[in-house]
Amino acid sequence: MASKMTTVCEYKPGLEGIPAAQSSISYVDGQRGILEYRGIGIEELAQKSTFLETAYLLIWGELPTKEELEAFKRDILYHRRIKYRIKDMMKCFPETGHPMDALQASAAALGLFYSKRALDNPDYIRKAVVRILAKIPTMVAAFKQMRKGNEPVQPCDHLDYAANFLYMLNEQEPDPLAAHLFDVCLMLHAEHTINASTFSAMVTASTLTDPYAVVASAVGTLAGPLHGGANEEVITMLEAIGSVDNVHPYLEDCLQRKSKIMGFGHRVYKVKDPRAKILQSLVEQLFDKTGGDKYYEIAVEFEKAVEEKLGYKGIYANVDFYSGLVYRKLGIPTDLFTPVFAIARVAGWLAHWKEQLGENRIYRPTQIYTGSHAVPYLEMTQRDPYPY
Ligand code: SDX
Repeated sequence: MASKMTTVCEYKPGLEGIPAAQSSISYVDGQRGILEYRGIGIEELAQKSTFLETAYLLIWGELPTKEELEAFKRDILYHRRIKYRIKDMMKCFPETGHPMDALQASAAALGLFYSKRALDNPDYIRKAVVRILAKIPTMVAAFKQMRKGNEPVQPCDHLDYAANFLYMLNEQEPDPLAAHLFDVCLMLHAEHTINASTFSAMVTASTLTDPYAVVASAVGTLAGPLHGGANEEVITMLEAIGSVDNVHPYLEDCLQRKSKIMGFGHRVYKVKDPRAKILQSLVEQLFDKTGGDKYYEIAVEFEKAVEEKLGYKGIYANVDFYSGLVYRKLGIPTDLFTPVFAIARVAGWLAHWKEQLGENRIYRPTQIYTGSHAVPYLEMTQRDPYPY
């Protein structure tokens, strides 16, 4: 039977607008700036929920009962610690290495200890979800300590998920407001339909490999500056702008050079990212309590200027524009901003991993071949130089 030729009109670079899956996990309306997790608006979740409750909702599809949530939190608490051999491995990582590379390596290493692939066993699925959610923050914080030559700070069992991460990072119990705002940040970053790293997780999951390999694939994808790496670049950009007076000259220069402005634009949102709005309010809450800093003034002025110049193209602030200002205030080093994004997005990756297993078909798209055919093999003496 002649294979159905793929016509050029079906090919969209970056699969823009091409459905790659059917999913009930989250919904985004890019024109109206709507984001829902399992049908619940992100604004309501940010106000009323917690990251672990949201992770449960995303992964199992329903809000947990009080007993279910308590059991889930207990399981996560129990699995927070990491094997000493993973810590020993991380001690060999160069202190100048990027924390996203350390996270990708250590996430994959979990597979060496827990890889048994019983993907048809609900208990294995649950255990893998708990282990990954529980251990990723510990590994991110451990690398931060070890690259300074310190021993990792052990998880603190009387602190909840968000507070414990800040404790392991800064070796002191965080202020309750700081812990709460960080928990909201994790909720906001937990899931966002078929973004690049989630798609990477789904493609890896579709081969029926273990969930640790799925997460390692996704971490590597999130690290790129066009995706999760943008939050780190935004702070670098705000520092480069340096003052409110330099906002317009800096932007003009970006436009002249046609360079991508970090923290702006989105494949789906053509209005301000609803998460950016919530993050901006978190920044204001933090600054009301701890005092502002000039970078927030610069950010607000810069956002206005970008909107004036690029709003007509649907380019507005995205989730990465204000998140870094919150993290800086919480004492999180800039190069850990993307690993923090990963800590949150693990919930979405695991939700899609579980959904993919429910109705799996290995991803194998086609291509439009643009090369030659029937090319003769040239002997060495017949070849023209072709420098690599
Ligand atoms: C995340 O997909 C998700 O859901 C991702 C995410 C999630 O939660 O998982 O929301 C998280 O990754 C947010 C995005 C973080 N990245 C950045 O902030 C990096 C800067 N942003 C751009 O690189 C860009 O906006 C993308 C990559 C995010 C989206 O790019 P698209 O949809 O492919 O848009 P495009 O590159 O095709 O641009 C369309 C036009 C172009 O202009 P023209 O050539 O048509 O004249 O808009 C321009 C672009 O030059 N444009 C920008 C811009 N983004 C798009 N121009 C300047 N600065 C920008 N940021």
